[in-house]
Amino acid sequence: MASGTGSNFEALVAACRRRTLQAEVVLLVVNNPGCGAQERAARLGVPCQLINHRDHPSRESLDGALIAALQQARVDLVVMAGWMRIVTPLLVEAYPDRLINIHPSLLPSFRGLDAVGQALAAGVQLSGCSAHLVRAEVDAGPVLVQAAVPVLAGDDHTSLAARIQRQEHRILPLAVALAAARLAS
Ligand code: GRF
Repeated sequence: MASGTGSNFEALVAACRRRTLQAEVVLLVVNNPGCGAQERAARLGVPCQLINHRDHPSRESLDGALIAALQQARVDLVVMAGWMRIVTPLLVEAYPDRLINIHPSLLPSFRGLDAVGQALAAGVQLSGCSAHLVRAEVDAGPVLVQAAVPVLAGDDHTSLAARIQRQEHRILPLAVALAAARLAS
C-alpha cells in the first residue's frame, strides 16, 4: 500500500527479485491517482489497483475496499509502504500480525505526521526509521527492525529524510522476513 513516490515499494520488489527476500509482491494498492508508486508498478510489471479514499465516505469504507482487494489477491502480508491514511481496526484485525508499517523515526519518538521535521525541531542527534507491526493506535505496535542515522550539523529536511530513506529501503525487506518468520513460529 503506497500513497507517494513508492521508493519503499520498489525496494521490496527489488529484494524479492534478488531473492534476498523470499516473497513476491503480488499487488500494489495506491490511493492517489498518478502517484509515483503507481508509475513504478507499471514500470516493474506489478499489478496495481487504485482505491481512492476520496471515493469513500469514511475510513471504514476505505478499509473495507482495501480488504476486499487484498483478499482477492490472496496476500499473506500487507505492507504500508508510505500509506498516508490512518487505518481502522477493521484492517488491523483482518491482518493480525500481518500488517507492517514503515515510519521515519526511532519509535516511540516522533509518531504521526512529519517525523523528520519533528526530529529536526527537537534537535536530536540521532534519528532513523522503524518497521513495526500495526496496531489500532497510530505508529504503535511491536517494532520489527530499526535503523539509526546521525543528524548532522547543517542537515535540512531534505538531507535528513534522504539519509533515513536509504535505511528504510534496507530494513523494510528485513521486517517482512521477520514478520513471516514470527508467523511461522
Ligand atoms: C517514507 O519515508 C515512510 O517512512 C513514510 O512515507 C515515506 C514513503 O516514501 N511513511 P516512499 O513513497 O516509499 O518513497
